[in-house]
Amino acid sequence: MEGVLVGSAHVLVAVLGDERVVCLRRRPAVDHDVAPGSLDVAQQLGADVPLSPAEELGPFALGAVHALELGWIACLVGEDEGNDAGTLSSPPMTTEAAVREDHADSEYAGVLRFYELAKRVEWQVRDLPWNDAPPIPEYKGTPEKLARRRDLWRLVVTQQLQADQIAVDMAAQLFTTAPHAEAKLYYTTLVQDEARHTEAWLQLVEQAGGMAERDPYLDQLAHMTLEADTLEEKVFLMQVFYERLIIPRFRLIARSSRGTVLEELCNRLAIDDGIHHGAGMAYERVLLANADKRTKDQLISAANRMLPIFAKHALWRPKAREFIGSLMYERDVAWLKQDLEHGVRLARSLGLDVSDIDLSF
Ligand SMILES: [Fe+2]
Ligand SMILES: [Fe+2]
Repeated sequence: MEGVLVGSAHVLVAVLGDERVVCLRRRPAVDHDVAPGSLDVAQQLGADVPLSPAEELGPFALGAVHALELGWIACLVGEDEGNDAGTLSSPPMTTEAAVREDHADSEYAGVLRFYELAKRVEWQVRDLPWNDAPPIPEYKGTPEKLARRRDLWRLVVTQQLQADQIAVDMAAQLFTTAPHAEAKLYYTTLVQDEARHTEAWLQLVEQAGGMAERDPYLDQLAHMTLEADTLEEKVFLMQVFYERLIIPRFRLIARSSRGTVLEELCNRLAIDDGIHHGAGMAYERVLLANADKRTKDQLISAANRMLPIFAKHALWRPKAREFIGSLMYERDVAWLKQDLEHGVRLARSLGLDVSDIDLSF
């Protein structure tokens, strides 16, 4: 189902986490020179299991964002998934930006709240610690080991760059396609966010040693999303599914790259994508409230078409790391299953009939 589409756009990140896992614990013989203690697999992967929304989105070193605002974003995301319902009606936020009384009764109130929030937490690429921290983790060891480690991080950064480049296309299309003024207003911030993310990744990939191999299945998923027939499908795939699934991946990468530009960037992106997802949930609710059965059925069909590609994406490894892919197969499958279940829950929370979702690929 729609959850299906998830992983593509941003999710590639997972590759890195998995490979690191291999390096560290499970297969020390494969790549055993990872800095001791810095990449505790058990802790990292354990922590990546569904956390409470508040945990997932904070705390981050985003000085410009008030803690209450971060908490509010978390509450909204949590509510989307059926957790702690009721927070939306009484957000723990006190700023005038969060709740605009003049739109409180509008069906677009949720979208507009995220519009205000997005503007409030906007940051600039120059805010990242380019001159005060290494771009990616640094290690000690032989030149071969250092090169191997750098290749892994280049892969991580490349996949995120690829995902955000795709996100710019999708955001621009959503801005163009959405017929509602309130949604268009919000999408101006989504386009800016994704463009800024891309700019940051471009700068980071250069400092990390250049691009690595692209994931062909991610490009395929992006194409399918951009070619989707209805706005309901596009919003679901991009914002409801992909934007939500990427958040724990960002947290995983951040935990594995302490003290680097990469860590800071991932922390910021986790917040931004929490807003992107929240806005998408709010808008999708409005769209589906006015959609006929055919449109909803179409959404489920599109999800079923994309599922097998998403699975290939989730299990993909670049040629140079294919041998690790086989070692990590079980872990990949577990993540995939988790992502799909999450997607089903999101779809159900939007009132969609998920009984026709085919997970038997
Ligand atoms: Fe992004
Ligand atoms: Fe995003």
